[in-house]
Amino acid sequence: MNIKTADFVCSNTQVSRLPLPLKPEFAFIGRSNVGKSSLINMLTQKKGLAKTSQTPGKTQLINHFLVNEQWYIVDLPGYGYARISKNKKEDWNKFIRNYLDKRESLQCVMVLIDSRLEPQKIDLEFCNWLGEKGLPFVLVFTKADKQSSIKTDQNVAKFRRAIMSTFEEAPQHFVTSSETLYGRDEVLEFIDGINRN
Ligand code: GTP
Ligand code: MG
Repeated sequence: MNIKTADFVCSNTQVSRLPLPLKPEFAFIGRSNVGKSSLINMLTQKKGLAKTSQTPGKTQLINHFLVNEQWYIVDLPGYGYARISKNKKEDWNKFIRNYLDKRESLQCVMVLIDSRLEPQKIDLEFCNWLGEKGLPFVLVFTKADKQSSIKTDQNVAKFRRAIMSTFEEAPQHFVTSSETLYGRDEVLEFIDGINRN
């Protein structure tokens, strides 16, 4: 897919204020600092479109970006950030889960997983919740440039094995690097395939 335009539309804390659900949308979610905002900038090839930071907890709102005037990328706050209060965590749970569960134009949840890490309980639990809700999702392993491809493959295989304990079929997955553009074509092709249907 050729990306001609990618523009910021709005940031929200309330599901009731989101853009009308008239265009297909793809939500990017995962642990704080996993690289959601960086991946969005990499996919759109627009540096600074989504705000990134070395400090976890940068993205705090539901951010809509319109691509090619046809579909939305949604950047979400990360989960599992240890240094936020219990109240804030509960807020996160409520408003993000409410968004994911209720958004009728949501086509697929892109669950980002740090390819450097062994399977993390919080990621597996989040995938299980998506499964319980019947929400379609794929796994996007990030930061593949940070270690050897052998190590990445091992971690991907471990995560797939772990997720198979609750899912009959492992979800589709992509390996990416926002530094090298690795995996960009595959992710965009996947999105294009859904948009064409
Ligand atoms: P929150 O909004 O805080 O939840 O974080 P996020 O998931 O949006 O992460 P963000 O894109 O802000 O990236 C976090 C840090 O990881 C930044 O310092 C990025 O430069 C770095 N980073 C993200 N993706 C990659 C990648 O593919 N390779 C490398 N080397 N660094 C990356
Ligand atoms: Mg972010």
